This record gives sequence, C-alpha cells and structure tokens, in this order.
Amino acid sequence: MERTYVMIKPDGVQRNLVGQIINKFESKGYRLASMKLLRITEEQAKEHYKEHIGKPFFPGLLEYIISGPVVAMVWEGKDVVAAARQMMGKTNPLEAAPGTIRGDFGLDIGRNVIHGADSVKSAEREIAIYFNKQEICSYEKTLESWLYE
Ligand code: RTP
Ligand code: MG
Repeated sequence: MERTYVMIKPDGVQRNLVGQIINKFESKGYRLASMKLLRITEEQAKEHYKEHIGKPFFPGLLEYIISGPVVAMVWEGKDVVAAARQMMGKTNPLEAAPGTIRGDFGLDIGRNVIHGADSVKSAEREIAIYFNKQEICSYEKTLESWLYE
C-alpha cells in the first residue's frame, strides 16, 4: 500500500475548500493516516520546496505558502501518489482538466489550491517534514474488502 503527502494550500483553506477536497480523497477510497492544520514555518517551506530555490517564482511561492494555515495530510492506498497528482490536475489551473481539483477550483499557477508529492520518495521526504512517526495512524477499515479485489 502506498502513502502520499497532500497539502491544502493557504488559498484552499481561506476559500473554504477543505471539506470538498477531503471528500474527494475519502470517496475515491483512500484512507486518511494523519491530518493537521498548521501555519508552516519558512524553514519547513524552504525544505519542502528546496528543488525550486533560485527559480524566479520561488520568492512568490515561499510568501504564498507561509501566508496562512495549510492542511497537511497523509493518505494511503493503491497507487495513491500518482492518483493524487491526477486528482489535483496540472500545475497551472487553466491547463488542469475539469473535474480535477485545480481544474475546478483554481485560476492562477501561484494560487493552485493543493500540493501533492510527485513520487513515493518525495512523499516520504515531505511527510517527515510535517509529521512525527507517532502521528501516522496505521489501521484498516472494514470497507476495504469492497474497494480492493
Ligand atoms: P506542488 O509541488 O505545489 O504540488 O506543484 P507541482 O508539483 O504541480 O509544481 P512544481 O513544479 O513542483 O511547482 C511548485 C509550485 O510552485 C508554483 N509555480 N509557479 N510561475 C511559475 O512558473 C510557477 N511554477 C511553479 C506553483 O504554485 C506550484 O504548485
Ligand atoms: Mg511539486
């Protein structure tokens, strides 16, 4: 079973999209392993987005991501890393397909509502930035026999 890191960005929290976004992951069949609302520090943001340090959009990205609370989540399930990226849609909301989170809820690349880890390795790295091991819940749900063959 795979694990990913998903984060509702400050615009998603301010625009009251938290419930709708969680609903999509829950109803798809993914299992929530941890969740918290937090205001991330500049240090956490720089560690999270370190691959983008030095790019022209980085200062704006940093300012945006620390501008208000985010909802940090760990989701588990079959192929959840790639599936979460598909559910989010392309980075630029104007290019994201309708039906995706960014496609339905966003307009601007710098206000694209949600983050999702881009690989299993990134997911592991990002989860460690925001969560202690004790904060990740391992459990099963009885309905999983109706989700998985
Ligand atoms: P994320 O990491 O936030 O899930 O987004 P992503 O993988 O789809 O895109 P990535 O290339 O990792 O970029 C991280 C975030 O930086 C902002 N960005 N702005 N103006 C630009 O050209 C530009 N490019 C990226 C976006 O907010 C993007 O989500
Ligand atoms: Mg990325």
